[in-house]
Amino acid sequence: MTTIVMTGATSGIGEIAARKMATVPGNRLILGARGRAPRGLNAYRLDLASLDSVRSFADAVGEQAPEIDALVLNAGLSRTDADGRTADGFETTFAVNHLGHYLLLRLLLARLTDGGVVVLTTSGTHNPAERTLLPPPRHADARLLAHPDQDPDLDREPRTAGGRAYASSKLCTVLTARALAAQPEAQARRLTVVAYDPGPTPGTGLVREAPLPVRAGWWLLGSPLRRIVPRFNSRAAAGRALAELALGTARPPAGHVHAALRRDRLTWPAPSDLALRDDLMTKLWHDSAALVGLPTHSR
Ligand SMILES: NC(=O)c1ccc[n+]([C@@H]2O[C@H](COP(=O)([O-])OP(=O)(O)OC[C@H]3O[C@@H](n4cnc5c(N)ncnc54)[C@H](OP(=O)(O)O)[C@@H]3O)[C@@H](O)[C@H]2O)c1
Repeated sequence: MTTIVMTGATSGIGEIAARKMATVPGNRLILGARGRAPRGLNAYRLDLASLDSVRSFADAVGEQAPEIDALVLNAGLSRTDADGRTADGFETTFAVNHLGHYLLLRLLLARLTDGGVVVLTTSGTHNPAERTLLPPPRHADARLLAHPDQDPDLDREPRTAGGRAYASSKLCTVLTARALAAQPEAQARRLTVVAYDPGPTPGTGLVREAPLPVRAGWWLLGSPLRRIVPRFNSRAAAGRALAELALGTARPPAGHVHAALRRDRLTWPAPSDLALRDDLMTKLWHDSAALVGLPTHSR
């Protein structure tokens, strides 16, 4: 049996991936969701905005599965400001997209089987060279991202601050993937680690908090009209690639951690310059551990 633990399977790219993986005989999916699981699948309660909820979910996984073959950290949200705070006191986008997943990864790491797979969903918005519509990250300082009021360079315009918080959280995702891949424990157990950027994939729930015209355009472009913008990916291709990475039917070339879906095809480009900085990678790992109350080493 192949056991896959996954977040973000209730809609969009993740739901398509989960359904695909569930159809493979011998696969067992353990989903974490804050709402109801998609029809035919089961989920345990998980709200990534709460560190307590992450710990409870990790306990539930432990009771169900002593060993995990694949961990898919796909959940994510984008907001129109950086004003939200979780019950733990952290900026919401950073907390959900990075910190909650970081804690879950740390709590489940010891359960990953030899040769197991970890996929973390990132975004091209982390990379200024991609020239996306969002403002690119300025840094990956976990303390400032968790507490933006302390950031002297915090954007005044709410939407810019929200967009940068999203892009920064996705920079943290790539840095976390690189940090994990560099851990002696991950190397000893031959883990495959991938930071997966599904690329621009309209028609998902990602812009649910955006103004109506943006939501309408997003849904419209999620239809066959998508073909008028060739750089947009289809949800089917984005979900399929996520499932293939999780199941190991698509594998990174040696030395690669960052995957990007472009024109419905999986590519393996270098991530941004900031994402390649080892000093940022190590500091983020340590600062994130401190924020979630864990020691800085991997167990
Ligand atoms: N679509 C794109 O163009 C694009 C591009 C690059 C990267 N991505 C990334 O791809 C991933 C999937 O996004 P999507 O486009 O498929 O959007 P989506 O349809 O909104 O899916 C997001 C998923 O994350 C879950 N989630 C959000 N907040 C959560 C929380 N607090 N606790 C637990 N789960 C939570 C959602 O669950 P609920 O049902 O409970 O809300 C949903 O299952 C995200 O990480 C996103 O950042 C998307």
